Amino acid sequence: MKQKKPSASSVIKTEIVCPNDTNPMGILQGGKLVHWMDIAAAVCAQTHAEHICVTATINQISFNKSAIIGDIITIKAKVTRAFITSLEIKVEAFSRNIKSKKDHLIGKSYFVFVALDESKNQITIPKLLPQTKSEIEDYKNALIRKNKINGATKS
Ligand SMILES: CC(C)(COP(=O)(O)OP(=O)(O)OC[C@H]1O[C@@H](n2cnc3c(N)ncnc32)[C@H](O)[C@@H]1OP(=O)(O)O)[C@@H](O)C(=O)NCCC(=O)NCCS
Repeated sequence: MKQKKPSASSVIKTEIVCPNDTNPMGILQGGKLVHWMDIAAAVCAQTHAEHICVTATINQISFNKSAIIGDIITIKAKVTRAFITSLEIKVEAFSRNIKSKKDHLIGKSYFVFVALDESKNQITIPKLLPQTKSEIEDYKNALIRKNKINGATKS
């Protein structure tokens, strides 16, 4: 079975908040941020799985701070664990105000994707080999989150 490091598929995606992305107060809409996070997570998942992946669930999403028109958004996505046909991606979104030059964590979530073959059947994916202390921590916690989801969907 093929094994891959988290760094082999990690993704950094950048955007600038434009008027069309905001509410009437010029604050970035949550749905727009989730869309950008989903794309970063999908690129990450598909790079690891080497197949098309679909979003199965978006967990523990939180919006900690607002971003406004003109802010630069940086989205970081990394595989935390690959299971059999599914994999979990940690996604963090940061905003930078060009005047204050300060970075803020504005959103964080865990996305689960399932890999599909050409016939849309689920397919076994490569295992993940965590390297760093934080990757090993994320790897352990991913199983706890998966067990919680499985428990919730069965009850
Ligand atoms: C995601 C999807 C492929 C799962 O199909 P399924 O037949 O219910 O899946 P299974 O019960 O056989 O489980 C397959 C894997 O997916 C995981 N999974 C299924 N539903 C899940 C969920 N809601 N959350 C997390 N993981 C899930 C299972 O744990 C299993 O993982 P493993 O093989 O790594 O152990 C299917 O529900 C689907 O196609 N959903 C629509 C996806 C989509 O279009 N997303 C875009 C947004 S609309």
